[in-house]
Amino acid sequence: MNILFLNGPNLNLLGTRQPEVYGRTTLADIEARVRARATQLGVTMEFRQSNLEGELVTWLQQAPGQFQAIVLNAAAYTHTSIALRDAISAIAVPVIEVHLSNIHAREAFRHHSMIAPVCRGQIAGFGAESYVLGLLAAVNVCEKP
Ligand code: DQA
Repeated sequence: MNILFLNGPNLNLLGTRQPEVYGRTTLADIEARVRARATQLGVTMEFRQSNLEGELVTWLQQAPGQFQAIVLNAAAYTHTSIALRDAISAIAVPVIEVHLSNIHAREAFRHHSMIAPVCRGQIAGFGAESYVLGLLAAVNVCEKP
């Protein structure tokens, strides 16, 4: 099983970006944590980040045949991107939406996710642990499609 983790804009700044919201954990720390768990589970994975909407769209398009599931933190594009939503709809690979923060407990504009209706499910509010839960959800979805 090969799982793709995709991270959207500004997540490269984790560690210093609004630590009161996102904590002090860096994206590299999160990747290491998820990778350790994936190894325990016998799962391979790739972990990518881009600030560019189109690059995320391309990576989603390229996933079929290479990855059995995708864990996506689309960051701010969650709330705006019809292009990401269409890309998720266009591929048969299941996508799990994840967020570090509880988007439903924050500003009103974060309550709506453009991608939620085309994702298998959403995990939000558990900090870095959201990614580990995303990994478990992805494995679960692959084992029981
Ligand atoms: C986020 C929540 C989004 O609203 C925000 O734009 C982000 C991060 C999260 O992981 O909590 O950049 O996706």
